[in-house]
Amino acid sequence: MKRTLLILIAMLTLGMTGTKAAENDVLVSTDNTTMLLFAKKGEPLKFVYYGARINEQQASDIWLAGDASNRNAYPTFNDWCPNESAIRVRHANGQIMLNLLVQDVERKAVTGGELVTVKTKDKVQPLFVDICYRSYNNADVIETWTEVTNREKKDVVLEQYASAYLPLRSANVWLSHQHGQWGNECQMYEEPLTAGMKVISNRDGGRNTHTDHPEVMFSLDGQPRETMGRTIGAALCWSGNYSMRMAFDPYDQSLFHFLAGVDETAAAYHLGANQTLRTPELALTYTDEGKGGVSRNMHRWARQYKLHNGMAVRDVLLNSWEGVYLDITEEKMHKLMDGVKQLGGELFVMDDGWFASDKYNRDKDNAALGDWNVDRRKLPNGLQHLNDYAKQHGLKFGIWIEPEMSNWKASELYDKHPDWFLQNTGVEPVQQRGGTQARLDLCNPKVQDFVVGVVDRLMTDCPELAYIKWDDNAITANYGSTYLGSDRQSQIYTGYHLALRKVLERIRAKYPDLVIQDCASGGGRVNYGLLPYFDEFWTSDNTDALQRVYIQWGTSQFFPANAMAAHVSAAPNHQTQRTIPLKFRFDVAEAGRLGIEMRPSDFTTKQLAFAQQAVEDYKRLRPVIQLGDLYRLLSPYEQGGVAASHMYVSADKGKAVFYAYKLKHFVGHTVPPIRLQGLDPNRSYRIKELNKVGNSITADGKLISGKVLMEAGLALALDNEYASRMVELTAE
Ligand code: GLA
Repeated sequence: MKRTLLILIAMLTLGMTGTKAAENDVLVSTDNTTMLLFAKKGEPLKFVYYGARINEQQASDIWLAGDASNRNAYPTFNDWCPNESAIRVRHANGQIMLNLLVQDVERKAVTGGELVTVKTKDKVQPLFVDICYRSYNNADVIETWTEVTNREKKDVVLEQYASAYLPLRSANVWLSHQHGQWGNECQMYEEPLTAGMKVISNRDGGRNTHTDHPEVMFSLDGQPRETMGRTIGAALCWSGNYSMRMAFDPYDQSLFHFLAGVDETAAAYHLGANQTLRTPELALTYTDEGKGGVSRNMHRWARQYKLHNGMAVRDVLLNSWEGVYLDITEEKMHKLMDGVKQLGGELFVMDDGWFASDKYNRDKDNAALGDWNVDRRKLPNGLQHLNDYAKQHGLKFGIWIEPEMSNWKASELYDKHPDWFLQNTGVEPVQQRGGTQARLDLCNPKVQDFVVGVVDRLMTDCPELAYIKWDDNAITANYGSTYLGSDRQSQIYTGYHLALRKVLERIRAKYPDLVIQDCASGGGRVNYGLLPYFDEFWTSDNTDALQRVYIQWGTSQFFPANAMAAHVSAAPNHQTQRTIPLKFRFDVAEAGRLGIEMRPSDFTTKQLAFAQQAVEDYKRLRPVIQLGDLYRLLSPYEQGGVAASHMYVSADKGKAVFYAYKLKHFVGHTVPPIRLQGLDPNRSYRIKELNKVGNSITADGKLISGKVLMEAGLALALDNEYASRMVELTAE
């Protein structure tokens, strides 16, 4: 009775009768999903529905079916003060009311989808907000963001400017998200949303994914499942501070509000007259195939549209960091290159330690960042020589930089430009890594030019440079800018990341083919704000294969395998001291973009032969591993010591690869057959075990129907701690 009344009120308020409703319905659809909005001129934009695809007739039926939960699609801090708002504006006249009313709706075809812009204006002031929706048909992703334009006479202050709002209707919503820390990134957390507010946020200022991640999933049918259940995935495409708020409606416990965007702490943004601020996109996807369905959609979207050069497979590389750390010499670089060549790798990357200036050396991590000259003591013949050496060996050459950072009073950059650092006058700055590291003030256009110049100089000195590892190893401390005026200090957080985008755009315009890795003390910057400019990311400084099973499980929720760098490193592992068999280490690293992070000269002859074969097989299977559809079979969190983390299937279902790992072992602890996913039930698959050491699985070499593999499963004989399997399936 109460609900009928509410529906009636809603319909009357919205003028919802007969055909009129259809006129104002705005459907934003993808191949399998629809978001339905209601845009009536002179009224606030309403959110009506997000879920499986519906047509226009069905959209009208939604009103008849009677869910009155429709809410303002972009809630403002307005007359109804206690509501959850996405935007709060202090107008030029000091008032903070904002009532956005629809003026128009524009639709335009864009690559792979459509851009729908709902143009709104404040009821009183000339403050305009475009609420934008961009569909990606084949990925079932809809991005949403806003563009705020100030046509008032003076500055307006955006005190809050979230990207998007989504009301979710379900009595039993579960949240899945990733949380971690340095060396332990992307651990999975799942919990039901209960009364009160849950906030996921990060305020590092520079690296926004070491703690919480700005990607979440909502399971609308209770406890999250990998293969089934209505699930929404949301990824905020932003590299700076963010917050995602989830709150129950105070009057309706089956309705909760989700708001995502730039975090508002110390981040008020002054928008001058006639200026526009575009908020970061929130990418949304909906599926009824559970968390696995969300991941596949996001991966498809990422590869096709979001990740730089996302449809390309990545090279097998060796990175020098764990092999020699800062102790770089020409001879050692030669030796590492000889090693990666012998293994069958394709690229060599020289990490930290190669640069210096007249006054400062990079022998420890406390000096010379910012002084990007080759250290001739270590590398007398310079970069070009290393590139030539690599080339003679059939390898590409890459290098490490950390261009947004410098060392306070320990770099020539500081000696020349002390004002280029973030700082507060009269306050001794917080200095981080090595006791001296501090962040440059990227809001300053001269600093932006400097950072672009770092890449320009490398490309001039070494024009064939194929790869850059772009690192960022400190938080944003010393919140003060000598460049921004006294009335703009609160926009360092946001301004910094807008500037970073500009810098990266300039670099990409000049060097579209340069492969650039996004690194920030490991996985501190794994976000879709930055990935449009990067080909891949360094997943974690922790290369321990056991922990990597968990880290890669979490990372794969939203990020595709060709972006996820995974390296085989030494035993015992340098971060955990754990000793893990080489086979297990390869089986784990081969689930992502394979690399090596150790001295190949440390391999025994037997290990070398194993590694060579593993690299050769990986290169053969790389298209399906890096670009295939991901199915996660057994979670390391749920199955008492076993994980069958990743199964990759080619688009035509003709080829698949999967991995299984025994994480801990107790006597008598057997593992049931593991049910595969994503195969064609009507085809049969030839089973081939790879990276074999010791006994083989019983099915090795056999031809087995896809139906049986998916229903009855495959016995894998995982009988010891750190037993692992890598299996290739080929349809015949
Ligand atoms: C960071 C990176 C490492 C390495 C070092 C070099 O910690 O995550 O991979 O490049 O910096 O200083």
